[in-house]
Amino acid sequence: EKDGHDWFMRKEIFEQPRAVADSLLGRRNAAGRLQLDEVRLSDEELRDIDKVIVIACGTSFYAGMVAKYAIEHWCRIPVEVELASEFRYRDPILTRETLVVAISQSGETADTLQAIRHARTQRSKVLAICNSNGSTIPRESDAVIYTHAGPEIGVASTKGFLTQLVACYLLGLYLAQVKGTRYNDEIAQVVDQLEQMPAHIETVLGQADQVYALAREFVGTPSVLFLGRHAGYPVALEGALKLKELAYIHAEGFAAGELKHGPIALVDDGLPIWCVVPPRGRDQLHEKMVSGIQEVRARGARTICLAEEGDTAIEPYADELIRLPKVPVLLQPLVAAVPLQLFACELATLMGHDVDMPRNLAKSVTVE
Ligand code: F6R
Repeated sequence: EKDGHDWFMRKEIFEQPRAVADSLLGRRNAAGRLQLDEVRLSDEELRDIDKVIVIACGTSFYAGMVAKYAIEHWCRIPVEVELASEFRYRDPILTRETLVVAISQSGETADTLQAIRHARTQRSKVLAICNSNGSTIPRESDAVIYTHAGPEIGVASTKGFLTQLVACYLLGLYLAQVKGTRYNDEIAQVVDQLEQMPAHIETVLGQADQVYALAREFVGTPSVLFLGRHAGYPVALEGALKLKELAYIHAEGFAAGELKHGPIALVDDGLPIWCVVPPRGRDQLHEKMVSGIQEVRARGARTICLAEEGDTAIEPYADELIRLPKVPVLLQPLVAAVPLQLFACELATLMGHDVDMPRNLAKSVTVE
């Protein structure tokens, strides 16, 4: 049942190429246009949407943060991302033109469910991104995009997260298609790139032994930091969450640009810092990240960098370097999250913890 793996979590990490491929299956019609069968909102309703609010908890919330970068870029409408547990208690501005996107692997998370119930009382449209057919959240939504990860048994979300990202990208591209904010060719090109992601994820999984060796080195470390920018920022947060959940050690993710506003004071000799380095592009993201890494290294941190193939600028500042395939920055979370999952799984295993059933946690949180 675990396919020869020690944990369901590890099995599920290695299933990700398949899970991502399945989640992309059948999303284009014969003419090459995106079609999302389960999105039962008319084109007219979708064209009227003037704001998106993504609500979710935990790992699903981090997928929502990536959705914000993607949907704002492709659709030019404002996207807010909010923790489901906070959403209802702040009197959010909801109208008929608001699309509320609830992301939930289990479809049963009480905080998220209560949030969509509230949104519906305000007449907003609710779209669920969910991995569990027929669960409560999709049943109470106007529309749903199912991820096709297959059952996720490990308590820590892995393939659930990657397939949520895929669903978020598809939603963003679909909205762009309906609203006409992007040319069809451009949309088709991104879908093509998405279709290459399973192979890229496979390449990253091929480096598992390098990540495991790192985990062996860091057994006993009291604290690990994670840095990212842009779509790499939620990946940093996710890497930190995985480590807290599974290895029970202090871990924090930061937006790299925020370091100098406080967190850099934490940096001390030998502190391991994972750095999600954005692809080199026309923007300044990559250069800014490299200089942030330089800063922490000058203060004694051990930098473990995730950087794309061919990125030589990072080499002088990386104590450890794990290569990622060359992909656009918006899609990079699909490859960058994987070594962080492997690291947390391995470190927790080496520490003797039950990876599939971390202490104090349940797979679906059905109380508020
Ligand atoms: C982290 C994790 C949790 C869930 C969160 C939301 O590994 O599993 O943070 O992501 O409880 O759960 P769903 O997506 O089922 O609503």
